[in-house]
Amino acid sequence: MPVVLGIETSCDETAAAVVDAEFHVISSVIESSIDQHRAFGGVVPELAGRAHVTTLGPVVSRALDDAGLDPHDPLIDGIAVTSGPGLIGSLLVGLSAAKAFALAWDVPFVGVNHLEGHLFAPLLERSDLEWPLLTLLVSGGHSMIVLQYGPGQHVVLGETIDDAAGEAYDKIARWLGLGYPGGPEIDRLARQGTAGALKLPLSMTGSDFDLSFSGLKTAVVRATQKHDDVALADVAASFQAAVCEQLLRKLRGAMQKYEVRGVALAGGVAANSLLRSGVEELAREFGVVAHLPTLAMCTDNAAMIAAAGVYRLGAGETSPLNLAADPNWQLADVS
Ligand code: KG4
Ligand code: ZN
Repeated sequence: MPVVLGIETSCDETAAAVVDAEFHVISSVIESSIDQHRAFGGVVPELAGRAHVTTLGPVVSRALDDAGLDPHDPLIDGIAVTSGPGLIGSLLVGLSAAKAFALAWDVPFVGVNHLEGHLFAPLLERSDLEWPLLTLLVSGGHSMIVLQYGPGQHVVLGETIDDAAGEAYDKIARWLGLGYPGGPEIDRLARQGTAGALKLPLSMTGSDFDLSFSGLKTAVVRATQKHDDVALADVAASFQAAVCEQLLRKLRGAMQKYEVRGVALAGGVAANSLLRSGVEELAREFGVVAHLPTLAMCTDNAAMIAAAGVYRLGAGETSPLNLAADPNWQLADVS
């Protein structure tokens, strides 16, 4: 049975996983250095890089061991590693390790785009996935609407022109004096508040499917300065409603334009309760399947990277040992 080891170190998660050719997750291990970053209100690149150095070896060993493979000489068919986008110091730890393992075990390796990895996540939880699929990929670093024709075949319909959705959540949470990461905190508070309490503008972007959160962020800051008597839960609910309203409006527009069989969520913001119920409703409205990955599959993990590797290595693609990490690697259209 061909198996691929996936390695992910693009941000604060150190992860390794083993996935087989049928996209079954054999093992998946994730360690996060988030506790080290909380006090700073965001990921500190130097701390994240150092954490990967100490954690990656044991994480890879555990993933191989959990998969019933010998960590010293696992009989795997290849290695997939995130080589961008992400924090350069963090990417280099995973990439260097992947090259060393590839040499030691005499197997091919392939550099995977982290965003493409996220697009493979729904495939790991539903083997009966039907294409085309419309995917809203929303995380702390990226926000985009992607049309997927099949594994490894995708067109980016639109993306944020400023902040990512998760970044807006984190910044607003910081402004409101809530903890980091802000998404889960705002989501929890919002459920106790009233959405219309704070009047916020609808964001308008030029292109059909592009997104924007920077104006909304400024509007929340201004409105809370002006109306400092509005309850925190109401501010959270109003902000959350505005973010989801924009995301769902754009997604609906894409559903109207492209005939798809399913709609999927990916990235950390996919954990958001309002967004999940909104996507479920949208899927019902259009009579298609909603793919809402489990939280573990929404956030950064190595199984999704291994899955992209299964596809890429299976197509005969391998990377040279001098492959460089690309912190700004854009997701290219492949159709
Ligand atoms: O994908 P992810 O784990 O890391 C990357 O950014 O790559 O996403 C983390 C982001 C953070 O900005 C966090 O605030 C946001 O996802 N997030 C949420 C929720 N849970 C996590 N945003 C809104 N609602 C949530 N429930
Ligand atoms: Zn991610």
